[in-house]
Amino acid sequence: MTDKAGKIKVLFASAEAAPFAKVGGLGDVAGALPASLLYNFADEIDIRTIMPFHAVIKAKNPPNKKIGDFSFQANTQQIDCELFISDIDGVPVYLVDNPYINHDSPVYHGDWQLDGLKYASFSLALLEAMRYLDWKIDILHANDWHTSLAVHALETIYKDDPFFEGVKTILSIHNLPYNGWGSQDAMNLLGFTASQDPDLPDWAKFTPLPMGIAAAHKVIAVSPGYSREILTPEYGCGIENYLQKHVGKIMGILNGIDEDRWDPAKDEAISHNFSVDQLSERVQNKLDLQKALDFEVDEKIPLLTIVTRLSEQKGVPSIFEALPQLIDRKWQFALLGSGNPELEQRASKLAEAHPDRIACFVQYDDVISHVLYASGDIFLMPSLYEPCGLSQMFAMKYGNLPVATATGGLADSICDYSTDPDIATGFLYTEKNTAGLVKSLSLALDTFENQEIWQLMQKNAMKTDFCWRTSAKKYLEVYKSLLRG
Ligand code: GLC
Repeated sequence: MTDKAGKIKVLFASAEAAPFAKVGGLGDVAGALPASLLYNFADEIDIRTIMPFHAVIKAKNPPNKKIGDFSFQANTQQIDCELFISDIDGVPVYLVDNPYINHDSPVYHGDWQLDGLKYASFSLALLEAMRYLDWKIDILHANDWHTSLAVHALETIYKDDPFFEGVKTILSIHNLPYNGWGSQDAMNLLGFTASQDPDLPDWAKFTPLPMGIAAAHKVIAVSPGYSREILTPEYGCGIENYLQKHVGKIMGILNGIDEDRWDPAKDEAISHNFSVDQLSERVQNKLDLQKALDFEVDEKIPLLTIVTRLSEQKGVPSIFEALPQLIDRKWQFALLGSGNPELEQRASKLAEAHPDRIACFVQYDDVISHVLYASGDIFLMPSLYEPCGLSQMFAMKYGNLPVATATGGLADSICDYSTDPDIATGFLYTEKNTAGLVKSLSLALDTFENQEIWQLMQKNAMKTDFCWRTSAKKYLEVYKSLLRG
């Protein structure tokens, strides 16, 4: 089981991990969670990450070393792999390459056939890499559909393989709707067989994420709220009956954030640093931004902000509809985000129509994001669903109070004004549409006028514990309980 030193050996498998490759929140988590586990519990755990050697990683060229070549047979295919090693914050990171991963390719092709080949082959290669290294793991911790086939493979292709005997598996769900549909040809080519679990609907038996969910010993959603929501038809993506029946192996653990990197007291991207004890400094950031954007410079005008992927999931259309309805009220709005071209256009048009109070940065820019978190009074997060969400946590740490839908990780991380303003950290609404946003935002605008309550809420938000250690400890408990059987 555990190694001589009694440490639990965990392989953390992910398609992305920051800072090497980050497309979305999965990258943040895969960069930070293993590092936090190692930093806080080094005497109990030996955790290593494995990911594809993507082109973006090649381009950044972090210190890395080739540690070998290995080949394996997948159905009729011989797959030749190269293995490299690097590290993220002390966590060893294995980088795998093979002709299907092909390190000239993007993290996600967006073409399901190519992505299917890339991640189905990576799911096998990551297990074969362990054999090549002769590192006998206790736990495989896979994430999302991209590595869920490794969990399935342990239950099928490798079931009687003595090298993997006794390995326990965890599958984290960051986003259930992305289930890997379209990988069927790749799975056929590489010799995957369908799940035999009679509780899965037929279509799901040969779809990567459900196959992994059925095979995993433990399924972890990235917030307790999301772990309950996925049991319902609204969020369950067609496998809610399976999840309900197997609710015993499902749990939710809220993600954390890097509170060192997201600390307004020492953030170099912002013009004025501040903290809970020096909250009065904060407003200078807003005044500077108002000046820079050619807005009216007045601390009494609430500044609304959003940092997001421009997508339907994030509820972005409801913002474009809600703001014109509130045009008679005093506010200014700054947006940072890119994504769906149609939404990008709508953002630009809105800014053109109201240049004196709306600014849209249609791009992704780390520095601007910090500036918006630090300058804004109200942070909009009208997501239709949100497995965890990280931006609302960054915003709260910077005293920027979220107006958000009461869903998934948003409801788990934000304490709603209506509960008790003395402990509240933001505004939650249940009606997930434009009308709901208009109502909730109006309430936030009213509350902003009472600066005594507002500042109390800001302090509550800034003091909330979102540190990774708290989440990492819960993961460690799960690893231990699985090994106890
Ligand atoms: C996905 C989810 C997001 C979550 C992130 C990390 O991107 O959409 O809510 O925060 O994964 O788990």
